[in-house]
Amino acid sequence: MEKVFSKILIIDFGSQYTQLIARKIRESEVYCEIYPFNSSYKKIKDFKPDAIILSGGPSSVYDSGAPFITKEIFNIDVPFLGICYGMQIMAYLLSGEVKPAKNREYGHSKLAIIKESKLFKGCEKSSLVWMSHGDIIVKTPPDFVVTSQTENCSVASFENSERKLYGLQFHPEVAHTACGRKILNNFLFNIAKVKKTWKLEDFIENKVREIKNLADGKKAICALSGGVDSTVAAVLANKAIGDKLRCIFVDNGLLRENEGKAVIKFYKENLKLNVKLVNASDLFLKALKGIKDPEKKRKIIGKLFIEIFEKEAKKIADAGFLVQGTLYPDVIESVRVFGASSIIKSHHNVGGLPKKLNLKLIEPLRELFKDEVRIIGKNLRIPAEIISRQPFPGPGLAIRIIGDVDKNKLNILRQADTIVTEEIKKSGLEGKVWQSFPVLIPVKTVGVMGDKRSYESLIALRAVSSSDGMTADFVKLDYDILRTISARIISEVKGINRVVYDITSKPPSTIEWE
Ligand code: XMP
Repeated sequence: MEKVFSKILIIDFGSQYTQLIARKIRESEVYCEIYPFNSSYKKIKDFKPDAIILSGGPSSVYDSGAPFITKEIFNIDVPFLGICYGMQIMAYLLSGEVKPAKNREYGHSKLAIIKESKLFKGCEKSSLVWMSHGDIIVKTPPDFVVTSQTENCSVASFENSERKLYGLQFHPEVAHTACGRKILNNFLFNIAKVKKTWKLEDFIENKVREIKNLADGKKAICALSGGVDSTVAAVLANKAIGDKLRCIFVDNGLLRENEGKAVIKFYKENLKLNVKLVNASDLFLKALKGIKDPEKKRKIIGKLFIEIFEKEAKKIADAGFLVQGTLYPDVIESVRVFGASSIIKSHHNVGGLPKKLNLKLIEPLRELFKDEVRIIGKNLRIPAEIISRQPFPGPGLAIRIIGDVDKNKLNILRQADTIVTEEIKKSGLEGKVWQSFPVLIPVKTVGVMGDKRSYESLIALRAVSSSDGMTADFVKLDYDILRTISARIISEVKGINRVVYDITSKPPSTIEWE
């Protein structure tokens, strides 16, 4: 008998929460994937989903250019759950009616369940839910019943239980919806009757076997960055092919104090990886000389990294594969509802290495979200100092020095960075904040040190909370911590006489200053 492997398909209409739906489903040990709304009927059918979720989205079904699917999708005989826009599109396509609401609802609302439903099994009759919509359903499609309401929304959920079509105007995937997890689990296990077949414990064993088969005795190369993704990918590959895995770590001279040496030592001694350190600091500094523009800096760093990596990779004879820590969010085709979004920053990281190397890709983490990679890393016994590291940008300290980069500025920023890292660690906040770091602003301001006038540069301190780096808020750091960091930087770092704290969120600012 064929082994059951349950699969949910999420059709994305551009909601900021789509990936969150996927993560919640994976947490319930059910595999799911996200397809953009304009995927073909055949592609959707070929995925063989056990159930389909229609995500939310920022549009109104009446907007010109609103993301649409065809009614045909409901020919696929599986349970459907429409969330917010997904519910409205379900209503619209099945001859219900959607209209702009008198009062837009955004935030908490009190939900009252008015009819028994399998979807709400075990939920309180009245609870708080998270709403974010401008349209409402004013007429349900034929054969649908309303199962709950809020003060401003008389159709907060509806269903046709016989055909297993369900719709929710609120978002069960966000933590603010008290009964959200229960509702999603009811949909998965009581309605779609799927099995918990997505087990991360099995993942390691399966992947190792897969890599071993794929590599077929050939060598593989891996670019390590010191971050969690490339490390976990390398450790998995190492488990599969041992010494045939050759890792390369390029020190671009834009790392934090002692970072290159410490990371290499760790890779070699703790993780037993075959890794070569390439010290290219001077090359990077030379290439960056006098360059002020952030995007130019990124491009130069990215290009040089590739050149160096290529040169090193060519030295490894008979390599057939390139191991990369690509994650599922890098693979999902993103839905851009309102035209192509403008590029704010061109991120460079160790993904996207040269195609002309003619190496086949091994991407063991392609199906995983970051939190799943962390669990795999833990199961692989990779120590917490790597697993729970704060993200560090590919271009490193170069984008934390405003304007052009030189040795002296890097030296100043490194000293400040060490202090910030130490103090944040001491306060127990290191794993709790998303990122915390200083930025060097080479603008001089006047101060008084001892009895003398000083005229020195500025350090801005940035500490943000975030769940994915897409949006962020500044952390309300305790004044005593701020005072300690400021006092230490001023007294220990020559060239700085003022420290300021960045109190902007993202948007409108970004996390890094460049
Ligand atoms: P922003 O500054 O865009 O940062 O709000 C969001 C997240 O991305 C990181 N970041 C980068 N990572 N290459 C990277 O690999 C880059 O060029 C880059 N720029 C920003 C940033 O640290 C934050 O985690």
